[in-house]
Amino acid sequence: MGAISLKAVEKWFGDVEVIKGIDLDIRDGELIIFVGPSGCGKSTLLRMIAGLEETSRGRILLDGADVTHKVPSERELSMVFQSYALYPHLSVAENMGFALKTAGASKGEIAEKVGNAADILKLDEYLERRPKDLSGGQRQRVAIGRAIVRKAKGFLFDEPLSNLDAALRVDMRFEIARLHRTLESTMVYVTHDQVEAMTLADRIVVLKGGRIMQVGSPRELYEAPDNVFVAQFIGSPKMNLVSCTTEGENFFLGDGGTGPLPGPHQCGAVRLGVRPEHIEVVAPGQGQCGGVVQMSEYVGADYFHYVDCGELGRITVRLPGSAAEIEGQRVGLRFDTDRLHFFGADGQRM
Ligand SMILES: Nc1ncnc2c1ncn2[C@@H]1O[C@H](COP(=O)(O)OP(=O)(O)O)[C@@H](O)[C@H]1O
Ligand SMILES: [Mg+2]
Repeated sequence: MGAISLKAVEKWFGDVEVIKGIDLDIRDGELIIFVGPSGCGKSTLLRMIAGLEETSRGRILLDGADVTHKVPSERELSMVFQSYALYPHLSVAENMGFALKTAGASKGEIAEKVGNAADILKLDEYLERRPKDLSGGQRQRVAIGRAIVRKAKGFLFDEPLSNLDAALRVDMRFEIARLHRTLESTMVYVTHDQVEAMTLADRIVVLKGGRIMQVGSPRELYEAPDNVFVAQFIGSPKMNLVSCTTEGENFFLGDGGTGPLPGPHQCGAVRLGVRPEHIEVVAPGQGQCGGVVQMSEYVGADYFHYVDCGELGRITVRLPGSAAEIEGQRVGLRFDTDRLHFFGADGQRM
């Protein structure tokens, strides 16, 4: 069991409000990810759930019980930090068993639980080594092992992979997904990396300035972002936004390009969002707009083309890496009208 509810939770540091009223229900067994730019309050919110940071207002419930003012040890949540903070003079086995030993567990029980965690994390071969004789990924696994030997209702991770190089991050991401499937426990995971969030999460919570911008599955956030912030935060390269006006069933771009609207829209000044992968390159004069390809980036599987569309600004187009080179050419751009996003002047989805 490990359902976590946040009810109108606020955090004030002196007279500065950092968490501005968060309501969220985290389901038992779910892997939920808090994502957002640096300073948006991810770590603070996680530490409030752990009990490491006092909650200024609102309530935190764990399986329905109010734990708002309980100390961390009474919450039965286990936390993994970005810095592994392993004891350098202890072996891997001793590091993982440390909390159990302090809690007075028997030698047999410690050996069994450490063995079990080592098995899950593939650390069996390294149990007698000191942390300095391990790679970064192995050290991170020990830090996770230390958290999972304890009986916990849920696991809290604060940017556990950000100290690892890119290749290792991908491996560890896979390990964490596997761990979640094995343990079937609630996991709350903080990252600033939207790719990590998209690949790992059951649901993502996008935060900005201490507020929730949207909660949803990775697919929901990608296909139906509630606002301009989420639209541009999720997805890489990011969604193009161009100013446009709508009238009846049609939209008009800055340079007069038109097209039928996917649904009824109110008349008014709006912004149109279109993802780089939902634009086709066509002959000049065709499509809804066009311009000159300023620069093309070849990244193997894909091309990213940056098209200077005059007063509309620069539009990014993503094409397969097998497509022809078009840098320097004048092109037309055709948007997939089934996959457009319209936002009002307030930045909210229309
Ligand atoms: N102990 C503190 N005292 C004052 N301000 C803090 C403290 N801890 C964090 N903050 C502020 O709260 C905001 C959110 O911080 P944090 O939760 O660490 O963000 P994130 O983890 O999303 O990068 C930041 O503006 C940060 O400066
Ligand atoms: Mg942080």
